[in-house]
Amino acid sequence: MSEIIKIFDTTLRDGEQSPGASMTPDEKIIIAKQLVKLNVDIIEAGFPIASEGDFNAVRRIAQEVKGAEIAGLARANREDIERAYEAIKYSDMPRIHTFIATSPIHIASKLKLKPEEVIERAVDSVKFAKKFTSSVEFSAEDATRSELPFLLEIFQKVIDAGATSINIPDTVGYTVPEEYAGIIKYLINNINGAEKVIFSVHCHNDLGLAVANTLSAIKAGARQIEATINGIGERAGNAALEEIVMALKTRKDFYNYDTNIITENIFPTSKLVSQITGISVQPNKAIIGKNAFLHESGIHQDGVLKAKETYEIMKPETVGITKDNIILGKHSGRHAFKDKLVQFGYDLSNEDFEKAFNAFKKIADKKKVVYDEDIDAIIAENILRIPQRYELKYINVNSGTFVKPSATIEMMMDDKSVLKAAFGDGPVDAAFKTIKEITDIDCKLITYSVKAITGGTDALGEVSVRIEYNGKQVSGQGADTDIIVASAKAFVNALNRLSYRLENWVDLK
Ligand code: KIV
Ligand code: ZN
Repeated sequence: MSEIIKIFDTTLRDGEQSPGASMTPDEKIIIAKQLVKLNVDIIEAGFPIASEGDFNAVRRIAQEVKGAEIAGLARANREDIERAYEAIKYSDMPRIHTFIATSPIHIASKLKLKPEEVIERAVDSVKFAKKFTSSVEFSAEDATRSELPFLLEIFQKVIDAGATSINIPDTVGYTVPEEYAGIIKYLINNINGAEKVIFSVHCHNDLGLAVANTLSAIKAGARQIEATINGIGERAGNAALEEIVMALKTRKDFYNYDTNIITENIFPTSKLVSQITGISVQPNKAIIGKNAFLHESGIHQDGVLKAKETYEIMKPETVGITKDNIILGKHSGRHAFKDKLVQFGYDLSNEDFEKAFNAFKKIADKKKVVYDEDIDAIIAENILRIPQRYELKYINVNSGTFVKPSATIEMMMDDKSVLKAAFGDGPVDAAFKTIKEITDIDCKLITYSVKAITGGTDALGEVSVRIEYNGKQVSGQGADTDIIVASAKAFVNALNRLSYRLENWVDLK
């Protein structure tokens, strides 16, 4: 067995910082449980001081999700650290992850501190965190734009104060592989007691180099990598966990490291995260994109038929993409349906399973074949429900060649029924305008997309929207055999998320 590279998943914290990706505590629990099945070593569950919602989600994950270290993020101050510990203390393996910026631009413009004050805060925070738990990680935010002697000094002092992991983030995705490797080597070679701590790396993808930088850092001595499922995260995202893991596995001949990841659970985890966040995976995305294992050109098809290895460097089954021969339809029973859910990463309680199965039966009665995407829609509609402040009761839309499109909609709002009608530029516009009038929320539609989910005119259509209100973005999904109804459901879903988030949103400097 080769040395293990620890996998620190930050989908629920840094990943959630993707525009529109906010998740409810229930959704976070579902993802955290799947991350345990994937067998990540550390789950960064959130930033407890950020909001009540974040705190509760982290606390529930610490209470309910066993089998991985649970980390809570905290700025380098006592209040944040105390709050983080309050949330993670229920875990069998709690980790406090504290950070402060170390680059000249962040120190001067954002923190408005002197460099020596930054060091003081970092050391005090690590010492304080150590009172609560033995596992303390310290991150030097914007490390790759920091001065090396300063980095060395702050890391040395936090290690002396008790930090067990030190993280060297490329916060703005600025570094390149050779330079990053140089920074890691310099720190490892010059820190006294470097062998006693784990060097961690955390890369953002602004130049499309997050995975390359991470791999380069591993070669240079990093033994923990921080990443997100599907590479979601701020701006261009974080390093994609599945790409790093599969690069290490596929090129073991070159790297000679292992991870604890059960790679067959990669695809179900990716699907789950995409479904819950509403952030779809691009078709050509490495490892988990729809086209990642498809061969289009004649030459390639011919080669693959003769010997798969001609054009395939990994087997799709290794990442959990199976050619499933079971087609679900109206004759399918509980067993086949359950198998499919498990394949997709859903581990439902009996009550939720029955709800989903009843919805499946209703759809199966209407359609001959129930496709994978229909299953996604069933789960989104029936299980991943957020608190329903608004509910669509009735919708009637009029449109055609010679009529001005209009919509009449009845909604329940805080248990009160409201009926309104409005005109629009098209049927979807009319429906959205009516919903806005009913709810009195003047939000902006940022993106709208319809997935004709399966073949045939009886297919369920899935609509995804992203809306913006007061600078905050949230997404919503809805599915129905009628595209206009699906659109209205998606919009209402986004408004429910918005209303939930507005109660929980706090901006941190
Ligand atoms: O990108 C970053 O610097 C971070 C830190 C909080 C680790 O996310
Ligand atoms: Zn980050």
